[in-house]
Amino acid sequence: MKTLTLTRPDDWHLHLRDGDYMRAVLPDTAKRFARAIVMPNLKPPVTTVALALAYRQRILDALPAASSFDPLMTLYLTDNTRPEEIIQLNQILTVKAVKYYPAGATTNSDAGVTDLARCAAVLEAMQATGTPLLVHGEVTDSAVDIFDRERVFLERVLTPLAVKYPSLKVVVEHITTREAAAFVKAAPAHIGATITAHHLLLNRNALFAGGMRPHHYCLPVLKRETHREALVEAAISGNPKFFLGTDSAPHARHTKETDCGCAGCYTAHAGIELYAEAFEAAGALDKLEAFASHHGADFYGLPRNRDTITLVKEPWRVAADVAYGDDRLTQFRAGGEVGWRLAL
Ligand code: DOR
Ligand code: ZN
Repeated sequence: MKTLTLTRPDDWHLHLRDGDYMRAVLPDTAKRFARAIVMPNLKPPVTTVALALAYRQRILDALPAASSFDPLMTLYLTDNTRPEEIIQLNQILTVKAVKYYPAGATTNSDAGVTDLARCAAVLEAMQATGTPLLVHGEVTDSAVDIFDRERVFLERVLTPLAVKYPSLKVVVEHITTREAAAFVKAAPAHIGATITAHHLLLNRNALFAGGMRPHHYCLPVLKRETHREALVEAAISGNPKFFLGTDSAPHARHTKETDCGCAGCYTAHAGIELYAEAFEAAGALDKLEAFASHHGADFYGLPRNRDTITLVKEPWRVAADVAYGDDRLTQFRAGGEVGWRLAL
């Protein structure tokens, strides 16, 4: 049987939610990944170091005693974030970064930034302290076609940002376009990007395959095949600027299968296995370990993990749906098969 042993990976972009929802999804990630960068888009958002530490403690309390999973926290940037918060963040080792949501761009982003010019003092402090800015890279201008919002963001926001703050550490999160891959490739070494498994595996046809597919709806939305191919090329390139970030984003089933459904794909139940599929399809399984387990740690200046995981090439069936607190959750590939299995 074909097996693949890798340094234990980390997930550099994850939504864990809170309370019963968090307790329902956390084991999937903790089984596979040593660390994860936990997104702050709770309701209300995690806007201060104190809130981030309290959230981290709730996550730690929900882990089984034997688990050594290490949640790394982020702050939610608002128009009113104070530079003092950045100074404090740098004194706390487990809070790693600041997340920038353009207001209205995605789930729970209403409190996000209306104009980055309002965050100048905070961005200066981040640049001075080497604090990474994690970017949801889409404009919110409704006049811009939804499939173009990432590309236009690169032109209108990211390019000027990189000029104004030439040494600001930036992660362009969950890139979805050829243009974003090219931007990051051409940028200096302190600008990196995460890539999700679903954007490596699917193009936008998956949103309409035989009918509307709400469980394939995420933001940034899936793009056409040429973009998917460019993402695969970036992921398997061995370039250390590209690393794993699942963007696993659980939503109760009834909030996706509805008139105005939420954005987000839940992939943590196969959080490394789906990447193995994508890398295998590209004939690049030998490049998976660096992408999943080395590049992100190096970018964040953290040690690489010392233990390993083993994947077995053995298909398994994903449940039709699973419990999610008092609700139900439809996981990615629900009812279908995943080609690789985590050996326990
Ligand atoms: O699809 C998404 N879901 N994209 C995001 O940016 C947010 C996430 C969520 O929190 O559900
Ligand atoms: Zn996300």
